[in-house]
Amino acid sequence: MHRMLMNARNILVGSAIALALGVSGPVYSFDDGAEVTIDYRQGLMRALGGNMSATAAIVVDGADFRDNLLAHTRYIVDATQDIPALFPEGSDFGETDALMSIWEDPERFAELSRENHEAALALHEAVEEGDDAALMPRFRSVGESCRACHEDFRRRD
Ligand code: HEC
Repeated sequence: MHRMLMNARNILVGSAIALALGVSGPVYSFDDGAEVTIDYRQGLMRALGGNMSATAAIVVDGADFRDNLLAHTRYIVDATQDIPALFPEGSDFGETDALMSIWEDPERFAELSRENHEAALALHEAVEEGDDAALMPRFRSVGESCRACHEDFRRRD
């Protein structure tokens, strides 16, 4: 038993060293920049979607995971902090549903992002303060402000 633990530890140390030396690990060329940016922002958006679904299950449908609510709303606050930064110039082609209007009207895009972040903050505060009566309306306004941006700036399916 003891020996097995030691072996497991050696394997962990070994992979940590391999990572530190850059032995395995992806190598990106300059041209991959836009592609990985798109992958990253879509992953982040999906994570937002997942945290919104989990929040809805608790707040709207009464799932018995109230203790996890703070973690979900904190993620939504953090991830909506600077959405325009996820859409640098040049990340408008390839496997993306981002519309050109993002770069044509950056002020409006930034404004909708700010409104979404403020709605997320208000929801998070209600969770922190245990203000249960405010949860439902504040959750709805986060959802509406996600949708408002998608309507103008994301390609429809
Ligand atoms: C300021 C604009 C904006 C806001 C606010 C915004 N989104 Fe998005 N979202 C986008 C754009 C643009 C895309 C398309 C990105 C792409 O395909 O490169 C997107 C894509 C998505 C996707 C699809 C990801 C995929 O797999 O392709 C989901 C899910 C999503 N958003 C959820 C959310 C949720 C939930 C919120 C609110 C908490 C939110 N978004 C807020 C602009 C926004």
